[in-house]
Amino acid sequence: MAEPGGTAPGAFDPRGFDPVGGPRRPGHLKRPGRGPLNGQTLRVRPAQAGDAPAIFALYRAVLEEGQSFLAAPDELGPQSGLGAVERCALIAKTTDEDGLIGAILLREAPLRRLQHSRTVELFVAAGARGSGAGGALLDAALAWARARPELRWLRLSVYADNDAAIGLYSARGFVVEGRRPGFSVEPDGQERDDLLMALDLRAG
Ligand SMILES: CC(C)(COP(=O)(O)OP(=O)(O)OC[C@H]1O[C@@H](n2cnc3c(N)ncnc32)[C@H](O)[C@@H]1OP(=O)(O)O)[C@@H](O)C(=O)NCCC(=O)NCCS
Repeated sequence: MAEPGGTAPGAFDPRGFDPVGGPRRPGHLKRPGRGPLNGQTLRVRPAQAGDAPAIFALYRAVLEEGQSFLAAPDELGPQSGLGAVERCALIAKTTDEDGLIGAILLREAPLRRLQHSRTVELFVAAGARGSGAGGALLDAALAWARARPELRWLRLSVYADNDAAIGLYSARGFVVEGRRPGFSVEPDGQERDDLLMALDLRAG
């Protein structure tokens, strides 16, 4: 649920990632009979610059739901606030590459003192949720991050009522570091809390 921000330019660093098959520790990439994938295999791969329009379009569609992210669609910057996707994003597609199912961004801060941590943003197309894509993207991101000894933390913020996301992050080892009461105010004036969650990549 991070606010829009920038990412330094550069190439995607392939450590921890098999460019053909996806993450080296694959997790549940195939969920036949569960959800809308109809038994197709899900493929997770690093984003390329050419994937940016599809990622931005999906991000915007998720923002239009108005539920899970802080920004409203009309608050996105000229580059949708996601930065250079080829440097920080993994994407999920079916093997026939037909349409984008989801994406996870591991954004780095432009500050030297924060180079040991990344901020996570994860989103799956509304019609594809519950099929294992979110879990597969997070597993791939964890494999990617664990292959980088310079990284210690993955951090994120999530609305405290976002049960699906909190369930997923908790199942993968993220712990709650704090709660911010009334962190945001909805258009109808209702306040919402968020949780700060983190995963220590060097633990266990
Ligand atoms: C959160 C999100 C990424 C999960 O993606 P998904 O593809 O639906 O998740 P998966 O099918 O891989 O499910 C993985 C786990 O998530 C949890 N989960 C999924 N849906 C859930 C729900 N409705 N309630 C509780 N937990 C749920 C479960 O722990 C599930 O584990 P399981 O595989 O053992 O069942 C997706 O719901 C989404 O994009 N939501 C909108 C954007 C968003 O909220 N992003 C996070 C902002 S911080």
